[in-house]
Amino acid sequence: MSIHAVLLPVPAADAPPGEGLKQVAAVEAAHVEHVLGHADLAEAPEVYAVGYRSQETTRKHYLLARDTEGQAVGYASVRMPLKDNLSVAHVFPSWLPGSAPEKQVYDALWTECLPLIETGGRSVVHSWTMHPAVDVGHGWVEPQSGVGRLGRDDRADWLESQGFVLEQVEIASTLTVTADLITSAGEVIAAADGTAYKVRSWLGPTPPELRGEMARLRARMSIDAPSAGMEQEDEHWDEAEVVRVDRVRDEWGRDYATAVALGPDGQPVAYSELAHPRDRPQVAIQDDTLVHGDHRGHGLGLLVKAAALTELTRNVPALRRIHTWNAAENTHMLAINRRLGFVPLGVTGAWQLRRG
Ligand SMILES: CC(C)(COP(=O)(O)OP(=O)(O)OC[C@H]1O[C@@H](n2cnc3c(N)ncnc32)[C@H](O)[C@@H]1OP(=O)(O)O)[C@@H](O)C(=O)NCCC(=O)NCCS
Repeated sequence: MSIHAVLLPVPAADAPPGEGLKQVAAVEAAHVEHVLGHADLAEAPEVYAVGYRSQETTRKHYLLARDTEGQAVGYASVRMPLKDNLSVAHVFPSWLPGSAPEKQVYDALWTECLPLIETGGRSVVHSWTMHPAVDVGHGWVEPQSGVGRLGRDDRADWLESQGFVLEQVEIASTLTVTADLITSAGEVIAAADGTAYKVRSWLGPTPPELRGEMARLRARMSIDAPSAGMEQEDEHWDEAEVVRVDRVRDEWGRDYATAVALGPDGQPVAYSELAHPRDRPQVAIQDDTLVHGDHRGHGLGLLVKAAALTELTRNVPALRRIHTWNAAENTHMLAINRRLGFVPLGVTGAWQLRRG
């Protein structure tokens, strides 16, 4: 079977997503459901359109793979940061389960991705891909980090055949939101009363007076979270970037619940944020959680996570599930998540290719 990949155009401002991006959304939804067994992460085509139009700090490309009959069989996105990490391209290949042979789809996509990566001057390629957490009959792939493993599947085989190295494994976990959980989150917040730290939380954009310190904390997130052998410089953040990201998140149709712990000088020293897609009231995705290095060991990670959860459930009572991903070696974060009740359900591989 012959597969051909094409580059999709960036949709014009305010134009609805074209047929190509609709197929991208459909492939991704089917792929994720195939691997994880649920549709919580399926995004509407409009979300892809908003993301694709936003090219200020990251150059983005979407490629769609079709078979000879013109049926979509896979897609890939290519992202190249423009303000930092200038040697790195992020490539996410995805295959429509049950369609053309998986490796053939990735081959066709990769052929079209390579010139984009070349033109972008990128010497390193990163890919994050979901895999089984169990042995599906082909053994295991162990990461360079030495912690965790993933079940070998066609995607792992294909990545290795292209020279990608599995640097790190992330554990995908889900938390079921219950009345008991909300009560115990409230108890964690109450227990912080009378300590040196105060909690503040909000839904939506960052309060203007906190933008500067939030920019500094967000920049730390890019280097403090364990990234094993994945090449990673600190990201460029400033107040303008905080405002821009808040705007794009709103355009994406996401409400963010953010909680911070304020230190003795009233400035944030820890934060956690939950992304809530407005079209799926039952679902949230855990985004960053970070405690500044000078303030670790006071339970602030648990505190800000409990406060973000409380903020979100107060605004979205229908919330039922929170999904998160953590490096297998991030024992501190995994311990906090276990305490909250997150259950591991899958794994993601962090793959790296060093070119030439
Ligand atoms: C995960 C994180 C938020 C936990 O911080 P925390 O809430 O202060 O952790 P705890 O209060 O539970 O601390 C437990 C112990 O681990 C220590 N600790 C916590 N994080 C640590 C780290 N990254 N490195 C070394 N020690 C750490 C604490 O000092 C404490 O030690 P103690 O018991 O001897 O006092 C924090 O490690 C962090 O910000 N890491 C970087 C960002 C990150 O990985 N985020 C998650 C990405 S998925």
